[in-house]
Amino acid sequence: MTQNLIYLDHNATTPIAAEVAEAMWPYLTTRFGNPSSDHAFGRAAKAAVDTAREQVAALIGSHPEEIVFTSGGTESNNLAIRGVAATVAGERRHVVTTAVEHPATAQPTRLLTEAGWRVTTLGVDGGGRVDPAAGVGDTPVGLGTFILAQNEVGTLQPVAELAEVLHARGAVVHTDAAQAIGKIPVAVEDLGVDLLSIAGHKCYAPKGVGALYVRRGTSISPVLVGAGQEHGVRPGTENVAGIVGLGVACALASADLGTEPERIRGLRDYLWELLSSRIPCAVRLGDRDHALPNTLSVSIPGRRGLDVLADCPSLAASTGSACHTGRVDPSAVLVAMGVPDDVAAGAIRLSLGRHTTTEQILTAAFALAGAAQK
Ligand SMILES: Cc1ncc(COP(=O)(O)O)c(C=O)c1O
Repeated sequence: MTQNLIYLDHNATTPIAAEVAEAMWPYLTTRFGNPSSDHAFGRAAKAAVDTAREQVAALIGSHPEEIVFTSGGTESNNLAIRGVAATVAGERRHVVTTAVEHPATAQPTRLLTEAGWRVTTLGVDGGGRVDPAAGVGDTPVGLGTFILAQNEVGTLQPVAELAEVLHARGAVVHTDAAQAIGKIPVAVEDLGVDLLSIAGHKCYAPKGVGALYVRRGTSISPVLVGAGQEHGVRPGTENVAGIVGLGVACALASADLGTEPERIRGLRDYLWELLSSRIPCAVRLGDRDHALPNTLSVSIPGRRGLDVLADCPSLAASTGSACHTGRVDPSAVLVAMGVPDDVAAGAIRLSLGRHTTTEQILTAAFALAGAAQK
């Protein structure tokens, strides 16, 4: 079905790497033990989870015991935000965040407002980037939560600078690195964060598995309660096969990070070159200097993104807007960036990945240019 399709939607999800699927298979079949069981089956499963913990930790430069496995990015963000919030009292019930968060951060943050927290939402410039020096104020803060790489436009936030400012206000700092992991080097020490979210299916592991890095000594309460798995922070019998897959995906990412980001950046820049020369009115959205290498958000003003993509049936990509009963609502992220409505309605997100080829880029560019002229 998908043979002749060009997949440029890697920020939505990635295919499972062959090595990942292969590593998972025994844990779906013969090595089915529960890691908590004290017999050979259990011990084999526990050893596999421990190895995966080391592989994830190695990718982000943490200690293995600082990794908590979860069901994905949404759960990791909820655990970070709600888990830290449960430990904070008094005037520190103040959260600082940005206007360009994924709903998996924006929604748990909204719950804090409902629970009486003060929320400071940092605005962004036209490229979608926060100014770390502006707007934080000098009042105490319990929690800072910032997206590292924006999913729609690929803009990278100055998380290290934000962490420094927020730590000086007494905050615990979380970053949602779901889109950054595997695409750019991510090191918890360089970022200076206390918590960091990972989503398996954005980095060639399966859907339904993820991880939260929790710096040693960080106060966090579990959101789920039950038996004591994952140091009691995330109880529930482990998704062993998924965790094994995430570990291998992280090991593959570690090996790829030397060369792959540059290859993908080259292809992304080539795609923009082709598009901008064939569609002179095309607008590129997002910050060009601080950006994921794989993401190109473009708009053809006057043409709705979903209509352009409908005219390119061989191309799998996303629009930057939601269509509700015929009306196009511009994405909140583009609104926060001050993108005019007609440009926002035209937004298309093209996100490249490990299997993207030059030939695919050429075909996609010709298809989009043809559709734009309709
Ligand atoms: C930046 C970001 N955070 C969190 C999530 C949610 O991750 P998951 O799909 O694993 O729940 C996504 C998924 O689109 C994302 O792009």
